[in-house]
Amino acid sequence: MKAIIPTGGRGTRMQPLTFSLNKHFIPIGGKPLIFYPVETVIAAGIKEIGVTYNPGYLEEAQSILGDGSRWGVKITYILQEKPIGLANIVQVCEEFLAGESFVFHLGDNIFVDGIKEAVDYFEEKKPNGLVTMLHHSENKRMGVPYFDDSGRLTKYVEKPENPPHDFAVPGLYFGDSNFFKCFKGTEAIVPSARGEYEIPAAFQWMIDQGMRVDVVEYKGKWLDPGKFDDWMEANQFMLEREVTEDKIECEVGSDTTIENNAHIGKNCIIENTQIKGPVVIGDNVMIKDSFIGPFTAISSDSKVEGARIENSILMNEVLIKNYPDQIDSSLIGPGSEIINTEKQSKKVSFFIGAKSKIIV
Ligand code: G1P
Repeated sequence: MKAIIPTGGRGTRMQPLTFSLNKHFIPIGGKPLIFYPVETVIAAGIKEIGVTYNPGYLEEAQSILGDGSRWGVKITYILQEKPIGLANIVQVCEEFLAGESFVFHLGDNIFVDGIKEAVDYFEEKKPNGLVTMLHHSENKRMGVPYFDDSGRLTKYVEKPENPPHDFAVPGLYFGDSNFFKCFKGTEAIVPSARGEYEIPAAFQWMIDQGMRVDVVEYKGKWLDPGKFDDWMEANQFMLEREVTEDKIECEVGSDTTIENNAHIGKNCIIENTQIKGPVVIGDNVMIKDSFIGPFTAISSDSKVEGARIENSILMNEVLIKNYPDQIDSSLIGPGSEIINTEKQSKKVSFFIGAKSKIIV
């Protein structure tokens, strides 16, 4: 079995950051979001991954993920010419799959507790298709499965008005090569009202042809960082989970204190600063006379001077100067500068894109 992980889409819910950046590469818990799906499929035993991208994003995807060798797997990049739906993402991977079955893991979903159970189910029971499901209070805005007592999918509807229960299908799907038949011939599926080839339409097509599509419940923790608030929540959750001991790769002076676990990268200069974890700091970061509070992740090449920061994500090459009264719940795009020229500052929260400049 091979894996498909997409990095495309419009990212409208994370604007303004996504005007210049691909959502999949924005960090959560100190690493790009896309790392979670990649590491999850690898942990389930997958060795070959097809990463799809939209025009203009290949270089960035390659520079972040490489060829997979850092994880001992092979990553192949596959162009999806237009973001016209999730089923189309699978469709463009037909050649890459070369007849093998696939697990399709959305690039912006995090299955915190792993997907091994679903992979094993698909490999042992060998249905033609398999979708996962979980309880979700807002399943009206998702794909909803209808199924019988034996776990067969009988109907699958995208964003139904009146779902019959509270199950929804998250971004984890399986199929064998029969999946591709839904794109061929006069009965082929067509785009939905939102102009997309929907995953439910493809599986519905398989069911209508008498193929076997099953549902399996994912009982673990699932994160779907769509909007700003969800993103900050996912960041908190992953930092808490992954930063469970100190990992300090540079020298930290005696005028700095570290409490409750931090990861600090190479070549950092940290002076007269209080760090209260869980905190992740990348490489070549300079921090002086500051307080870096819980749930903060600062990416490489950033500089923080005279500031108090909590529960925030700073991307690469961010500069923050003189903000003693707390920057809280902020997501700050790469290359942005926030400089306070007054003696005092107010508690603030920022959500700003790349290369912004705020001087007060
Ligand atoms: C997409 C799928 C939907 C699924 C959801 C999971 O929704 O179309 O079936 O439940 O992902 O994250 P979208 O994010 O495109 O609204």
